[in-house]
Amino acid sequence: MNVIVCDTPEEAGARAAVLVAAILRQRPNPVLGVATGESPLRMYAALRELVRDSVDVSHLRVFALDEYLGLDPARPDSFHSVVHREITLPFGLHEAAVSVPNGIGTEKRVMADAAEYETAIAAAGGVDVQVVGIGVNGHIGFNEPGSPKDSRTRIVMLAPETLAANARFFTPEPVPPRAVSQGIGTILEARNIVLLANGLRKAEAVRAAVQGRETVDVPASLLQGHPSLQVFLDRDAASLLS
Ligand code: F6R
Repeated sequence: MNVIVCDTPEEAGARAAVLVAAILRQRPNPVLGVATGESPLRMYAALRELVRDSVDVSHLRVFALDEYLGLDPARPDSFHSVVHREITLPFGLHEAAVSVPNGIGTEKRVMADAAEYETAIAAAGGVDVQVVGIGVNGHIGFNEPGSPKDSRTRIVMLAPETLAANARFFTPEPVPPRAVSQGIGTILEARNIVLLANGLRKAEAVRAAVQGRETVDVPASLLQGHPSLQVFLDRDAASLLS
């Protein structure tokens, strides 16, 4: 694991983008895994500039980590909409090149689509670089504490800390209590993982993920053994690291 501590979130985003662009450039049919949330937004902005001239985006395939269960994908707060706004449109991608887990329909339908999502990732050749944020409780994707290391794309219950943290996107409505998320096993299969975290509120989760022991209680710690894990932090997020 490489931990890169930057002076500002902007610098962390810019440096992560250089790495992600370099990985995408090496591949004829690059596959990018994207997280939603605030943490990667600066990275995506910098990446857009970098890929504009140097990556043939007509061959770029994108898979998102997660989506709320039962949330209309047309709503602006759905992850379908976030990925459309932050990735599909600004990168100039075809809709068909960008996939987000389906959270609509019966549970049986959603579970069948989750299995197909795994198949689609594999059929695309696997993820070349997966971008992840980290929750205040150490979650990655919506893999909450207790998620097994070999978990796959499935329906999950959101933890109380996640509901509280994500209330800012839904107020005054409640945050949907369940989601569909790639599993930790799915994420670990990416050839490269780039984790981004900013701010003091992430400092304890970052410490536990980077310097704590590997445990299902801190899902991000399960990434520790990955052969290519790069962690980009601002000074605040890194403030509890020794
Ligand atoms: C979102 C996701 C989550 C977020 C995490 C941090 O697709 O997978 O794990 O990355 O909740 O969210 P922010 O970056 O908003 O603090």
